[in-house]
Amino acid sequence: MAEFDLSATFIPSLHKPASLLPIARHRQSLLYLIEAYPVTIVVGQTGSGKTTQIPQYLEQAGWCADGKVIAVTQPRRVAATTVAIRVAEEMGCKIGEEVGYSIRFEDVTSASTRIKFLTDGLLLREALVDPLLSRYSVIMVDEAHERSLSTDVLLGVLKKILKRRKHDFRIIISSATLQAEDFLTFFSEDGESQTKSETSKAVTLDDLISSGGAPTQPASNSSIGQIINLEGRSYPVDVLYLETPAEDYVERAVQTVFDIHTKEPDGDILVFLTGREEIDNAVQGISERAANLHPRAQALMPLPLYAGLSTEQQMYVFEEAPEDTRKVIFSTNIAEASITIDGIVHVVDTGFVKLRAFNPLTGIETLTATPISKASATQRAGRAGRTRPGKCFRLYTESNFLSLPEVTVPEIQRSNLAPVILQLKALGIDNIVRFPFLTSPPSELVIRALELLYSLGALDSYAKLTKPLGTRMAELAVEPMMAKTLLSASSFGVLSEMLTIAAMTSLGGAIWISHDGEKKMETAARRKFAVEEGDHITLLNVYQAFITKGKKEGRFCHDNYLNFKTLTRAVSIRAQLKRYLERFGLVVQESLSGTSNPNLEPLRVGGPDKSEQIRRCLTTGYFAHAAKMQPDGTFRNVAGGTILHAHPSSLMFNRKAEWVVFHEVMETGNKTFIRDVTKIEKGWLVEYAPDFYKIR
Ligand code: CDP
Ligand code: MG
Repeated sequence: MAEFDLSATFIPSLHKPASLLPIARHRQSLLYLIEAYPVTIVVGQTGSGKTTQIPQYLEQAGWCADGKVIAVTQPRRVAATTVAIRVAEEMGCKIGEEVGYSIRFEDVTSASTRIKFLTDGLLLREALVDPLLSRYSVIMVDEAHERSLSTDVLLGVLKKILKRRKHDFRIIISSATLQAEDFLTFFSEDGESQTKSETSKAVTLDDLISSGGAPTQPASNSSIGQIINLEGRSYPVDVLYLETPAEDYVERAVQTVFDIHTKEPDGDILVFLTGREEIDNAVQGISERAANLHPRAQALMPLPLYAGLSTEQQMYVFEEAPEDTRKVIFSTNIAEASITIDGIVHVVDTGFVKLRAFNPLTGIETLTATPISKASATQRAGRAGRTRPGKCFRLYTESNFLSLPEVTVPEIQRSNLAPVILQLKALGIDNIVRFPFLTSPPSELVIRALELLYSLGALDSYAKLTKPLGTRMAELAVEPMMAKTLLSASSFGVLSEMLTIAAMTSLGGAIWISHDGEKKMETAARRKFAVEEGDHITLLNVYQAFITKGKKEGRFCHDNYLNFKTLTRAVSIRAQLKRYLERFGLVVQESLSGTSNPNLEPLRVGGPDKSEQIRRCLTTGYFAHAAKMQPDGTFRNVAGGTILHAHPSSLMFNRKAEWVVFHEVMETGNKTFIRDVTKIEKGWLVEYAPDFYKIR
């Protein structure tokens, strides 16, 4: 028989047929459980097909009859968009038709959308308009084990909705690790006497198979839900530790990638880092050093994966690497469970993740690199064994591992709760203490949030939502401090300017891009738009220059080191925020104060008076983020304690100021940076937030 070359004869299929996914065997039993019980908890390994297949099964089984919609929530925006695109592809439709997604400031759905992926925060927001979420027949809360703030609050809201919609509503909770019992207990508890054993009968596979799909003995009707376990196919993963802890884990990760590349067999590499800066550095580190590889060596293709990337950029990680090339994906926690990338054989786990942490004493919320939990480490290692046996290189020692916490503390216990409390109040949930939380938030966090909302004028002294300010703040798709700023803006005559500032600070992506190695030029370009008063007005200048010049002249963005895409997004966000305000009956008088200057150099907004009004207006929302410069050039916030540094991207970096307000805080290494910083007068703080500064 003639030999023939397999790889020359066969072309790999574009997608692995969905019928081969582990979940396919459970289709019948899943649909049975969802039909029979209000709550179904699906436990299965990442990659088993939960996110992409369950909504399709539901749609085929008729859950979208009468125009009803199936919602699948994701804790992350990236996951919502990528899975939606994938499911649309599988169903052969254009994204936004039968399958769509909706994330803050980006709604890609239409009247024909039957399966809708959205962030859990956005679904909560929908409940403001449609309190029973009546357009949905099924809501699947995906990645519930991550316990994001919005997921936890959503679960409480869904539990309340379920009481009112006993017959026409189903909840599916999907979780990658075994926290299933907790979720079931949560939905079962009611003060009504339901014992745990009665409500948490796990249906085993054997039960289901032996009865041809349906559980042999359906649990009693009083039972609210069932757990179904989809056993995932996975291969053994060898876990390796360092003998001594790594000093610089980014550097060590890059080195480990090269070690794997030169010593280990084929297969792509997934590296867990904590954020964009680290990831960009690592990608660059690989590119630089790859040049020194042996010329005949297999190539390395480093790819970043983090939330700030555009959808197209994120899609690269799913593409198969060219022949003789090994993909190395440097990712944040996104790749831990939310996103499945095929072909990963080696995992490099640095052992850190960026977590939100709110300090109730200083009122500052930071995003800090924190050691992961054991559950996370296990989940990360599991990413290596999806297609064949793999290896996980932990950049820490075994005793480090043993000292890690079992699971990550849920976000609700370490976040600024002002945004969610505002939302709960707007949903008519006045008694926060009695709200069914999966895990109760610490009382000091609740108190701090109530204090802030009161000082912002969103709550009255009985902790009731004020009208119209409080209700409007809840409706606006920006956090409470910015919402207050926007809603105060007309009284300062700066509504048009503040809309722009709100849009520019909500971007998430980079406004500036440096062309290769031209950092100095970029800084010079920035200076063109800079004003003495600080970053907010500088952002306003950038935006105004963009809409007057940048949208028309192709080279404008390139020459000024501006990111065309990000700025285009700003235009769209601004338009959306403007529509909200117009719905409230506010009139936006567009003013383009800077256009009279033909050369754009320098382009200045308004006069000193306009600038003062903008800064006063910012103070009405951001008084809790006020800080004073110290003789050494660092800042202290009013509560004292925390040493804050102006971020290098800020105008206030290396500049003199007295008092400032800032938009946000971020941590890099062991320094706390403030970003988007603007000068204010001390007196304004007492003028606009007398209660807040009295409370202190
Ligand atoms: O949700 P779960 O982790 O259980 O799995 P899934 O996200 O539904 O993924 C099922 C399969 O689809 C996996 O083999 C993925 O690799 C594949 N998939 C993909 O190739 N591209 C996507 N954007 C999403 C999923
Ligand atoms: Mg999933």
